[in-house]
Parts: sequence; C-alpha cells; structure tokens
Amino acid sequence: MLKGKKILLGITGSIAAYKSAFLARLLVQSGAEVKVVMSPAALEFVTPLTFATLSKNPVHSDFTENKDTGEWNHHVGLALWADLMLMAPLSADTLSKMAHAQCDNFLMAVYMSARCPVMVAPAMDHDMFLHPGTQENLSKIKSFGHIVLAPNEGELASGLSGKGRMEEPEEILQAVVRFFNPDLPLSGKRALVTAGPTYEKIDPVRFVGNFSSGKMGVAIAETLASQGADVVLVAGPVKDLPSQPNIRVVKVTSAHEMHQACLAEFDQCDITVMAAAVADYKPATVALEKVKKKEDEWALTMVKTVDIASDLGSKKRMGQVMVGFALETENEHSNAALKLSKKNLDMIVLNSLKDEGAGFGTDTNKITLIWPGNKLKEFGLKPKSKVAEDIVQEICQLILK
Ligand code: CTP
Repeated sequence: MLKGKKILLGITGSIAAYKSAFLARLLVQSGAEVKVVMSPAALEFVTPLTFATLSKNPVHSDFTENKDTGEWNHHVGLALWADLMLMAPLSADTLSKMAHAQCDNFLMAVYMSARCPVMVAPAMDHDMFLHPGTQENLSKIKSFGHIVLAPNEGELASGLSGKGRMEEPEEILQAVVRFFNPDLPLSGKRALVTAGPTYEKIDPVRFVGNFSSGKMGVAIAETLASQGADVVLVAGPVKDLPSQPNIRVVKVTSAHEMHQACLAEFDQCDITVMAAAVADYKPATVALEKVKKKEDEWALTMVKTVDIASDLGSKKRMGQVMVGFALETENEHSNAALKLSKKNLDMIVLNSLKDEGAGFGTDTNKITLIWPGNKLKEFGLKPKSKVAEDIVQEICQLILK
C-alpha cells in the first residue's frame, strides 16, 4: 500500500504523542520508509528511542546531536527526502508556528524546508481547538494546501469531553493510503463489514454460538481496503483478524454488542457488508453463577436477538449500499430473495450448505449473487479471497453507479 513511500513523521508536544508510536508502526508495516522528527516539547511526552526502534531510523530533534563534535543534522536534506510530511499529533503551539512561519526549532526548520505535501492531525483540548486563533491558524495552513485531518470528538486527557482528540492511528494511516492512492475505485468511501459468529452467554462459563470462522467477512474487509475504502470491521470472536493495518477492527462478543458497534459506524458509511453469522436467539436470562449439573435434561428459554441487517436496512439513506448474506439449506434462491427485500438490501450473497466446500469454516466458498428484481449471477467454487474479489467488484458497480 505504501511501499517505497518516504514519510517524515513530525511529533509535537501533546499527550496524543504516545499514539504516534502505533502510527509509526502501522506506516512501517504498510511498506513506508519512516523518519521521525520531534519537537522539544514532544520529548517531554515520549522518547526518541521508542520511535527510532519502530521506524528503524535515527530520530532527530535538534540541529546538533553531539554538541562536542558539532555534528550537524541536515534539516534541508531530511525535508527534501520526504514524499509526505505528517505532523501527528499537531499541538496548538506548533500549529501556530506553522501558520506564522516561526522557525525556532529543528522540526520547524525541517517543515519550512519541505517541498512535499504536508498532512496534519491536530490534538488539543476542546476549548483550545475551538479558540478563534486556532481556527484561524487551521484556515491559514489549509490555504497553504496542507491536508488537515479533523480531530475526533470524545474524552480528552483533561477529563473534558469534546472535539480535539487526535484521529486514531488507523484512521490517519487510511488518510495517508488515500493520499498516495487517490485513483483506487473506492478511495474516499467508508465501509462497515461484520464478520464471525456471536456468542450469547448462558452463564459465566458457557455460551450459545455457531461455527462461523469469520474468514469470508475478513476477506471482504481486506479486499475493500485494497480498493481504497476506509474499512471498519466489527468482528465477533474470530481467530484470524486482518493483516492489513488500515482496517480498524472493533471486537465484539454478542449480537447486542455487534448491533451497538454497527450503529456507531453505519451513518458515516457508504458501504455495509453484513457477513457475520449473528445468533438469532439468546438465553432469556444470563445466570450470574455457573449453572450446576442436576437434572437429566436442561431446557433453555431463548429470546430473539435484534436483526442488525434489518435495523440498519430500515435506516439506510440514498446512496448507501448494503449487502447481506444468506446461508440456506433449502429453497435457497427464494429464501435469499425474501431476505434481500425484507432487510432492504441492495445485494445478497447466497451460500448453500448443500454445495461442498461452501459456507462455514472452509477456505473456499461457492456463491450466487442476487439483486432486487431476481437478477442473479452464479460463481464456481473458489478460495474465499477470490470470492471476496467477485463480491467487491459488484459492490463497486453498485456504489459507483
Ligand atoms: N443478520 C443480522 N442480524 C441477525 C441475523 C442475521 O444482521 N440477528 C444478517 C446476517 O449477517 C446476514 C443476513 O442477516 O447478512 C441473513 O442472515 P441469515 O442468518 O441467513 O438469516 P436470518 O435473517 O437470521 O434468517 P434464518 O436464520 O431464519 O435463515
């Protein structure tokens, strides 16, 4: 994704600097070459050793590394080396310096010598972010052509809650990938994918679950990301989570948790793929203590879980594309077509358990895609990664239409 790209990661004095260690690792994992420059204030929060280890390159924070020998760090050389300068976290102080070309430290000297594009991820307290001076500085650096990654809302280090949290490392990575790959078909699109089984608790040691491995959902998430989409994967208990670092994973256990996680993401998403094998029923009550062995028979009363696909389908806006799965053992086509319309989906992926090598647990799958109006397309048995490519190709047709 970022192979051969040279990224200069500027770290400034903000508590969010600890998250930049994850960011440095994600960038390196994605194939980028990373060099880190730290402001003097950043050194109060995190150590150069952490970043030197993660980036596999020396970290610079001053013009001279060794005062005795007078060895000089070449700010211009560093600046011209980079394909992208990424300031993350960007403090209010460094933002102000950038807006006013105030070159009073090594990081600022590198920044002012850079000819490459600059991307920034501000991180500061809510009121500092909203201050008219900060907003003016942000407008100013935007007018320089810099890319500003708007901070998230949420809990802040001060204990306050509001706007100012640096975007998560995965989100910043997604923005960097998008920057370098603007021509991918799904660049700029957000996708939500569910995967895996859900476990519904009976008591502290037992649950009701199913045999889903989550492989199909993970393969779809990976394929969507490779086509440029920003992907959030809401995964039930799945063993093999995606290897691609630009997929944000939200781990859940039960259908209720999966529903809540999906609701938090759905509105911002252009594409939703419901590949999870969500439990349809859960125990009516969860025993607080382990249920002891007594009678010969044990009857569990089960109640329906929420149908996540139906709920999201009823909230779907114009332009959002939703794809579901149907795992059937009989009357496959008619059952799948019924689910397609009942859940307000744009396409459904039918798996028949009658097909050998299809469905749960296997590395292969055999699918039929069905659209409203009973249009359908059958595919042969393939590895799940190839099946994911077929599905994503059709999703591209739907979203780009
Ligand atoms: N689904 C869901 N929430 C549920 C049940 C299913 O989001 N509580 C989604 C699945 O992820 C899938 C689609 O709905 O995309 C169809 O799931 P499936 O299990 O095949 O169908 P059900 O609606 O559960 O009906 P049945 O089990 O009776 O076939």
